[in-house]
Amino acid sequence: MSRPDAGTGKPVTARRALIVVAAGSGERLGHGIPKACVDLGGRPILAQVLQRLHGLSSGGLTPGRLSHGLDAVVLVLPPDRASYDQLAAVGEQFSAAAGVPVFSTRGGGSRSSSVRAGVNHLLSAAAADWDPATTTVLIQDAARAMTPEQVYARVFAAVEAGAAAVVPALPVTDTIKRVHPEPAADSGAERVAETVPRSSLRAVQTPQGFTLALLQQAFEFIGDLPDAEAEGLTDEAMIAEAMGIAVAVVPGSESALKITTQADLAAAQALLASIHAPEQTKPVLPRVGIGHDVHAFAPAEEPRDLWLAGLFWPGQQGLTGHSDGDAVAHACCDALFSAAGLGDLGVHFGADTIGTARPELEGASGAQLLAEAARILAGEGFGIGSIAVQFVGKRPKFGPRREEAQQVLSAAAGAPVAISATTSDGLGFTGRGEGILATATAVIYTL
Ligand code: CTP
Ligand code: MG
Repeated sequence: MSRPDAGTGKPVTARRALIVVAAGSGERLGHGIPKACVDLGGRPILAQVLQRLHGLSSGGLTPGRLSHGLDAVVLVLPPDRASYDQLAAVGEQFSAAAGVPVFSTRGGGSRSSSVRAGVNHLLSAAAADWDPATTTVLIQDAARAMTPEQVYARVFAAVEAGAAAVVPALPVTDTIKRVHPEPAADSGAERVAETVPRSSLRAVQTPQGFTLALLQQAFEFIGDLPDAEAEGLTDEAMIAEAMGIAVAVVPGSESALKITTQADLAAAQALLASIHAPEQTKPVLPRVGIGHDVHAFAPAEEPRDLWLAGLFWPGQQGLTGHSDGDAVAHACCDALFSAAGLGDLGVHFGADTIGTARPELEGASGAQLLAEAARILAGEGFGIGSIAVQFVGKRPKFGPRREEAQQVLSAAAGAPVAISATTSDGLGFTGRGEGILATATAVIYTL
């Protein structure tokens, strides 16, 4: 045996292949689609198998993942076109993320014939000139979607240490009884024949590992079995046993449960949820922003319309500035940009001449800019929780039109906008009626 590679633990001259058999129809699960296509935690069961090997959801390559040591993966898929295409695409995604060649082929009418198809495909697509004696092939049931990476690693290691056939297994905890083949003649009930001593029993899982050489011999040994007979071959270790080859046992995992029925699927879902639980309990905090705007009233000799908080205020002198001077709406925009970390009004709409940085916004009202700010945030993946804005000024008198103003700005922002107003007790520029001030806060969240 050659020395192991530091990163993967695999002997440097050895080859590692994984065959995932996923061609079954999932009759007992009863979803009306092949089992490997059934949703488990938002992706097909087959994708969850590959996910365990690589941590695809963590985004990117994780050093030392088992997938780095694989030389080829063969997916044995259901023959119908739609399922095949869907699952082959899952394989391509894994291949791109993990940098492992992934091949897809169609399965047969029994698990055993699907495994045989996988081995043949491995030989034709990748392993033609690999040494069968130093190539390890792991056969994994897609149905055991939650099998942890460590079990694969254990099986690879045992084959590479010299075992020709390896199965992962767990001790049996139930009391096992054998029943008579025929039910009782009178009641029709099954009858116990004997209790099987539990200490020597093991519940066998997948992945099962073999040298490629042994797999080739095994399929020669059984020849071309009709599906009905192959049905009885629930794993390839059975063939090795029949050939008199020692089959090594390594520890399996409770997580490697086989999804056969709806109850098993629910158990796998619960397991998946518990794996992701630490991420989910991390609190998702909202983001808070602040905005501030000041405008002076235009001099009496330059009459202007007053627009404030999205409303027209007839008979009131307007504010200075190139825009409509709607300090209340502008403060709301700034609070939104601040909360999202997207700069401020000037960055998006033009610093001094609001509307001119984006010609289509030239002359836009405060309410239109607020609607545009909300759209920009949504484009960056933020929703708006609420905005609170306070107006400080001697006039106009806000109380009678507060509701109306809140409705206009809330409609523009697509979220509740609360407006409060105060005078400043005659102090400062607001108190003297020279100008107005608005301060806003916004709470936003990640969509
Ligand atoms: N399998 C396969 N080809 C078949 C039959 C089974 O590749 N013709 C695969 C399944 O996809 C599964 C594994 O062998 O990953 C174990 O089979 P099982 O759990 O029985 O799955 P199904 O045959 O799909 O389920 P059912 O027997 O309920 O129809
Ligand atoms: Mg089956």
